[in-house]
Amino acid sequence: MDAVEEIKQRLSIEDVVSEYVELKRAGRNWKGLSPFSSERTPSFMVSPEKQIWHDFSSGKGGSMFGFVMEMEGVDFRGALEILARKAGIDLDQFRGSAASGRGKEKERLYEAMEQATRFYQAQLKDNKAALNYLKSRQLTGKTIIEWRIGYSPNNGTALVDFLKSKKFTEHEIKSAGLSAQRYRGLGDMFRGRLMIPLADPQGRIIGFTARLLEDNPNAPKYINTPQTLLYDKSRHVFGLHLAKETIRRSKFVVVAEGNLDVVSSYQAGVRQVVATAGTALTEAHLKALSRFTGDIRLSFDADKAGLAATERAIPIASKVDVSLSVITIPSGKDPDELIKHDPAAWEQAIAKNEYALDWLIKRYTAELDITTAKGKKELSDIVLAVVRRLGDRVEQEHYIEHISALLHVSREALTAKLHQKEVAEKPRLRKPAATPVIPDKFTTDHLRVQNHFLSLALMQPKLRPMLKPITTDMLMGKEPRALLTFLQHNSDFDGSPAQAAELKPIAEYVKILSLHYEELYENVEGEELQYEAARLQTKLIDQYVKMQKQRLSAELQAASEAETEKILEQVKQLDTLLKTR
Ligand code: CTP
Ligand code: MN
Repeated sequence: MDAVEEIKQRLSIEDVVSEYVELKRAGRNWKGLSPFSSERTPSFMVSPEKQIWHDFSSGKGGSMFGFVMEMEGVDFRGALEILARKAGIDLDQFRGSAASGRGKEKERLYEAMEQATRFYQAQLKDNKAALNYLKSRQLTGKTIIEWRIGYSPNNGTALVDFLKSKKFTEHEIKSAGLSAQRYRGLGDMFRGRLMIPLADPQGRIIGFTARLLEDNPNAPKYINTPQTLLYDKSRHVFGLHLAKETIRRSKFVVVAEGNLDVVSSYQAGVRQVVATAGTALTEAHLKALSRFTGDIRLSFDADKAGLAATERAIPIASKVDVSLSVITIPSGKDPDELIKHDPAAWEQAIAKNEYALDWLIKRYTAELDITTAKGKKELSDIVLAVVRRLGDRVEQEHYIEHISALLHVSREALTAKLHQKEVAEKPRLRKPAATPVIPDKFTTDHLRVQNHFLSLALMQPKLRPMLKPITTDMLMGKEPRALLTFLQHNSDFDGSPAQAAELKPIAEYVKILSLHYEELYENVEGEELQYEAARLQTKLIDQYVKMQKQRLSAELQAASEAETEKILEQVKQLDTLLKTR
């Protein structure tokens, strides 16, 4: 069974829809007010038997997947994920053979990373320079083992040769990000560096960050695993596998900049520390952390870049709904340096964290001259840009008040400024339009008429002669047109499976029409039906003619003499259509 089927088995359409629309029983079906229009009489229908919904006011309808797509403004994949969560289904178990092939490939990459880690660990034992370097950084043997730190030899192909001997293909080694194409062929990605493994939250190794033993202005201090199937630096939180228990217990997390800051803090017994290692804090990072705690404390460099990074992080934190604060290290050191100097001071600094926006305002207050008009403008520019994106209204108000007092500017002026830009910025922040396009009244009317008419023709073979004057261009939409053609060619269609196979591509539409029929005509007598079908047929043609004439009259205004002739000819044909129907 595939995921879609499994979801359909576990969830009923009425359960899914009733989260958005209040439904009431109406015979075999459920009814409610359309979520697509502001109607007073319910015209939104759900059929438990057919597991479909249909909105008579807008003509929309379909399965539970289509409904979630409409309501949440997501694509099919997004709806699948939402419904799988609701049904308690793990989508991974349904990955197709291509995807499960990818699962196997991933497994191979995990294995390659594990083997590489062991290889680098073994190499470290024999390398004096690397061991000395670690000693100089005051890392103990225990720490080195716990963090699985290693060394990559500098002969060019040591790791590649080792992995090949373990039956890994060149393709696998490359996909794991462990090799690079050198001019002599495939060579090791990391050479002569200290190897710090990057692990996922479960502790599986997914990448490396590799440090030079001696700083060299001509080479990067760190190089990292490139983006692979396993490693995505914009999501990876360094050290989470060894920090998560302490984070849960202490109910906060510290985010440092450097990997070795984390290792060093861990060694000092402060273990709720992680790092984003050389990248800006992303929404994915904060989401990963928010699974463990809502109290996130940043320990970024006190330089301009750190300030900018904090500024960018505040709105993301507000969006993810976590509280962000800033840790200041007085001496301007990084945590690793502070810990070496005075481990207790590190803990004190963490305890003295300051709410991020307060910290930001202070920083800018110190930097700008806020007694001048220019300074007031600049500070309010910067701070309001952040305040504007805070999710919480009360919090926004708090900061308006605070800035007002700080700058001696009225709250009204600040509020006006806050909203001034809001108008321009809003579209960027809003999620992809969930508001459905509501068709104009004429279109809606035409859709209704054609659906009702086709539902009669579908369910009552004796009404099918009435399809004769109808042409596909009188109908709107692919599915109604396909059904019309089918019924015109199969006037004896009785719903038998053999013929129904042809209807498969429009099966959902056919179901919707049978729902229409049930709802409107099931208890209507034969003669009444005949009359109703005739009325709808007339209306359908009338509306079509009206639409065509409107189009032609618009064309007429810009037409040359020859074109005018042609247009008038078409009008004549339309008039005959009205007479002969
Ligand atoms: N970084 C990187 N590439 C570089 C420099 C830095 O990927 N060329 C990342 C590393 O993850 C590093 C972090 O950015 O840990 C912070 O950089 P920096 O402050 O320069 O390094 P430290 O962590 O202090 O490194 P060390 O103490 O080893 O000098
Ligand atoms: Mn450092």
